[in-house]
Amino acid sequence: MGSPRLKGNTDLLLDEALKGVQSQQGEVEKIVVDKLKISPCREYYGCLKDGNCVIRDEMDDIYPKLLEAGGIIIASPIFFYGLTAQLKALIDRCQALWVRKYILHNLPDAARKGVFIGVGATRGKQLFDGSILTVKYFFKSIGVEYVDELLVRGVDKKGEIRKHPAALSTAFELGSRLAQRTG
Ligand SMILES: Cc1cc2nc3c(=O)[nH]c(=O)nc-3n(C[C@H](O)[C@H](O)[C@H](O)COP(=O)(O)O)c2cc1C
Repeated sequence: MGSPRLKGNTDLLLDEALKGVQSQQGEVEKIVVDKLKISPCREYYGCLKDGNCVIRDEMDDIYPKLLEAGGIIIASPIFFYGLTAQLKALIDRCQALWVRKYILHNLPDAARKGVFIGVGATRGKQLFDGSILTVKYFFKSIGVEYVDELLVRGVDKKGEIRKHPAALSTAFELGSRLAQRTG
């Protein structure tokens, strides 16, 4: 969950998606990135040696979760046509996993699946383009296939998504489909 706003639009959509996963007997773990202390990547490039980041912080707990999950949902509001800084820091720290995949060749191209939930206030055609590219490339780098997305435009105030029951039920379906795909 990439939004800092608990019970905001992203949070509520993600909760529906997680309920959808659970409706198929899937196990879920929700990570609220804003609650974690995750330094941005500092380009020390220690990861080139063995695929491990040399920065010690709460990202330590996240790497194994990202590698073990059968499915990953990235949910984020759009901030300045991109993902939130909190989420982007987590993603950038996955350069260490990129190294495992593309330099050390020891990260399997697993059949894991990933989906993106994006929420923005405006309605432009290109609103989600930058974030979709980032999420796709992130998933690819950690051995996850981008299989689905839910993009909700025109939602701004905290909890305004409650006035969009169709979006909430689509989020539920997204989660349910993800669970079916990941078995
Ligand atoms: C720093 C900041 C930047 C934002 N940038 C955009 C933007 O570029 N495009 C847009 O449509 N909405 C933008 N928004 C609005 C949020 O995407 C919108 O309010 C969203 O519903 C917030 O989701 P949340 O409740 O899950 O945090 C921005 C909001 C903030 C706080």
